Amino acid sequence: MKRLEGKVALITGAGSGFGLGIAETFAREGARVAIVDINEAAARAAAEGIGAAAIGLAADVSKASDVNRAVAATLAAFGKLDIVVNNAGISHRNRPMLEVEEDEFDRVFAVNVKSIYLFAKAAVPLMQSQGRGVIINVGSTAGLRPRPGLTWYNSTKGAVHTMTKSMAVELAPQRIRVCALAPVAGETPLLATFMGEDTPEKRALFVNSIPLGRFSTPQDIANAALYLASDEASMITGVVLEVDGGRCI
Ligand SMILES: NC(=O)c1ccc[n+]([C@@H]2O[C@H](COP(=O)([O-])OP(=O)(O)OC[C@H]3O[C@@H](n4cnc5c(N)ncnc54)[C@H](O)[C@@H]3O)[C@@H](O)[C@H]2O)c1
Repeated sequence: MKRLEGKVALITGAGSGFGLGIAETFAREGARVAIVDINEAAARAAAEGIGAAAIGLAADVSKASDVNRAVAATLAAFGKLDIVVNNAGISHRNRPMLEVEEDEFDRVFAVNVKSIYLFAKAAVPLMQSQGRGVIINVGSTAGLRPRPGLTWYNSTKGAVHTMTKSMAVELAPQRIRVCALAPVAGETPLLATFMGEDTPEKRALFVNSIPLGRFSTPQDIANAALYLASDEASMITGVVLEVDGGRCI
């Protein structure tokens, strides 16, 4: 039996990186998946790569109208919604905190934090009527063990972790589980933004801070998301699961 047989999942930012890995893994394990991304071409290409079990949807997760449209399109295609993965995220480039301008600060908070509020407004009522549901928020080791140069990004991930725990206790009576993942630096297009500059020296500096000695991969993150989304984790809610090779110890 596949681990997500019969489930419907909506995954944001799934045109690239961790989100794409999560979408491919969920589909392989029997789920039908809605791939939501601001990059429409990437969303469509990802869905085509997966095949009939996937649809690609263009949406900016920081805009209520886009979020509502994405949830409605998922329902129209698949008839229900069991799992939402709030994965879409951005960062300001690694640099001193005072050099980040207000509009960039606002944008990072809107994409990384407000999106979770918007998806809760759109999807939780559905999950409440279904009597079950799972929400997985992608946080970061940056929210657990912040380092200089990413102060405002780190703060968004702290908010993601607190939202996760608070949503988990509030929604538990309705059998809606809410969990977070805290990945360590991963091999995705975002990595260069986190490092500030993509040089062999910077890469070595980052990798050397990870006890298991390598960056995370989309498959590492997808494996953890798969477990939390599946019924195997039916007694688990409110956790912030580090997928970090020991980075936060
Ligand atoms: N890569 C890392 O080192 C790392 C580490 C810890 C946490 N994370 C988190 O993992 C998540 C995924 O990051 P990734 O590394 O896969 O990055 P990525 O850049 O490869 O993928 C992010 C995707 O989100 C999409 N996106 C950006 N803004 C959007 C918006 N407003 N609406 C909809 N889609 C939007 C992008 O188009 C892209 O396809 C993010 O939340 C990130 O903060 C990444």
